[in-house]
Amino acid sequence: MKGIILAGGSGTRLYPMTRATSKQLLQVYDKPMIYYPLSVLMSSNIKDILIITTEEDQDGFKRLLGDGSQFGINLEYIIQPSPDGLAQAFILGEEFIGDDSCAMVLGDNIFYGAELSRKLEEARKNADDGYATIFGYQVHDPERFGIMEFDEDKNVVGVEEKPENPKSDYAITGLYFYPKGVSGKAKLVKPSPRGELEITDLNKLYLDEKRLKAELLGEGYTWYDTGTPDSMMEAANMIKSIQKNGDRVICCPERIAHKNNWIDDNELMNSAELMRKNNYGKYLKKVIDKTK
Ligand code: G1P
Repeated sequence: MKGIILAGGSGTRLYPMTRATSKQLLQVYDKPMIYYPLSVLMSSNIKDILIITTEEDQDGFKRLLGDGSQFGINLEYIIQPSPDGLAQAFILGEEFIGDDSCAMVLGDNIFYGAELSRKLEEARKNADDGYATIFGYQVHDPERFGIMEFDEDKNVVGVEEKPENPKSDYAITGLYFYPKGVSGKAKLVKPSPRGELEITDLNKLYLDEKRLKAELLGEGYTWYDTGTPDSMMEAANMIKSIQKNGDRVICCPERIAHKNNWIDDNELMNSAELMRKNNYGKYLKKVIDKTK
């Protein structure tokens, strides 16, 4: 399975912070925002990841993440010339995806939950079986998001993009798993009234074929779409409290890579050395010591 992180967009809602850099390179507590979605794909056991950015921001991402070898993964980069919708990612990434299934996560989405790996595993299995999977999270402002609707058995029966009168308060979060053939499907999507290839319209195509499943992220999960200063601050506070001010580090790509045996102790030590002056580096060192 392949993975895509969509990290384009001009981030105008975060001006002036994003005048000189990309939103997804900004900090959320102790690490750049993109580390969070990256760790979701890595926790899904995905090693081949495409990062889609604007032209002017690509160099910053390359400086931060390089070819991914420090995380034991393979990173590729392409440019989204203009923000024409989330579903466009699968057209831009057609060659990269090839004949594989593919997951996509938005570069500003933060997921956390003890059982998340199990849900990701489930979604991967669905993709192997020919089903797409979306993830729902209950919100108080559903009109701001894509929304999913269910029947009594929690089967998804409808998806709608930013409806005026939402039929449920379950937002469709920015994490999507698709079976092979998603690029061909994405090409069938027509631009919406706002001129974008909407991911919700792509999901509708799967729903029409009864090939769309939903995983609900209920109690015990946290999800943030960190598009505003307030949501970035909220997310940062949440992470700080989970990390107990430095005792551990969540959504840590180096740790996931080490756990998956994609990097060995020496490679982890290189990262730990680079950050030895802070809690992140000390945590990596602890991970090595614990496994000895
Ligand atoms: C996008 C999707 C929407 C989804 C949201 C999650 O919205 O279009 O369906 O709920 O991401 O972050 P946008 O960020 O483009 O407003």
